[in-house]
Amino acid sequence: MSGPFDGKRILLGVSGSIAAYKAIDIASKLTQAGAVVNVLMSQAAIQFVTPLTFRSVTHQDVVTDLFDIQSRHAIEHVKLANSADLLVVAPATAHTIAKLALGLADDPITVTAIATSAPLVIVPAMDANMWHHPAVRANTDVLVSRGVTIVGPAEGRLASGLMGWGRLAETAEVIGAIATKLGSQGDLAGRTIVVSAGGTQEAIDPVRVITNRSSGKMGYAVAAAARDRGARVLLITASTSQDDPVGIETRHVESASEMLSAVLMDCQGADAIVMAAAVADYTPVNPATNKIKKSATGKISIELTKTVDILSAIPRDLVRVGFAAESTNLIPYAQAKVESKSLDFIVANDITTPGSGFGADKNKVSIVSREKVEDIPIMSKYAVANEILDRVAKRFVVQR
Ligand code: CTP
Repeated sequence: MSGPFDGKRILLGVSGSIAAYKAIDIASKLTQAGAVVNVLMSQAAIQFVTPLTFRSVTHQDVVTDLFDIQSRHAIEHVKLANSADLLVVAPATAHTIAKLALGLADDPITVTAIATSAPLVIVPAMDANMWHHPAVRANTDVLVSRGVTIVGPAEGRLASGLMGWGRLAETAEVIGAIATKLGSQGDLAGRTIVVSAGGTQEAIDPVRVITNRSSGKMGYAVAAAARDRGARVLLITASTSQDDPVGIETRHVESASEMLSAVLMDCQGADAIVMAAAVADYTPVNPATNKIKKSATGKISIELTKTVDILSAIPRDLVRVGFAAESTNLIPYAQAKVESKSLDFIVANDITTPGSGFGADKNKVSIVSREKVEDIPIMSKYAVANEILDRVAKRFVVQR
């Protein structure tokens, strides 16, 4: 599996709001991620954006009129509805939401919505007063009670010039919500997976820290892949440059000791932990309360003490996965850590491999357990994440 959208048919319903132009970005990002995107537009929507724009970014037919004799999909819209993996309506106006709640079917979006059994994601956009109107609230509640996912709206400046709730959610949030919905029937549905990511920071004084080169990308990829396979994901992240992922409960920590407390708390009731974080092995014994000034001797020493090994402190009833970044003796060191930390397996990477490891988008790893060593070819971190989760899923089956 290379991504949650690969080969998926996604129907994107665009209704008539000024935010319709933002749906172009959603269509483009979904297409780039490997989805086959068919856009369905209401007559009002084509006042704001042209069907040609959507056809150009998706390379697929756009349905604008149910009675257009030239369009294959207009006549065969039920076929399109049947082949869909998901229908997302973005932007969804108050009028379209009302029609969807009532089951009315008089345009390509609403006809498809009642002709498909695929999950429905709605991304509203309207003026704040409209969003708060009891009729819109009631219609939205009806849709939620039917299992529909509502994404946003966000707060901010609206087309009316007023500030308030009603802006179309950001593309990343919409894409994340679609991935979560698509994955909700995945092989990890019903499982809770704790993932740690990033490099911890150990305070020397209020200004300086001891940290490492971890970018957090590998841990975030594991978290996203687990979400996309239906798991509830609890992400505990130390310093990284990554944005908080959508659909994942994310907690920020700084030091190794904060990470220890967060991990122990989140592991209660969880099924697995993947410790991708680069946790400091040592921390200053006495961090200074005030900023340390340059010394006259030109030398300074900082006394360090060992941190608690988090993996070793985790209850044994979870599936436990560690990481080992090594520059020499990769496999023997990794095998020793499987034993000393009592792990199900460890993901070992040789940090000297070019284009892989810290900060890179790809990784070349070996997966080392007590039983075997598996060399995984270099691939994207998301694909490595799925290799890891395949093995976590196998452990769940054995446990059952
Ligand atoms: N880890 C942990 N708690 C720590 C330190 C590390 O749980 N206090 C976890 C990391 O998240 C990672 C694995 O242990 O999954 C890394 O093992 P570690 O022995 O710390 O690796 P190195 O720091 O490379 O150690 P060594 O110097 O022994 O090679």
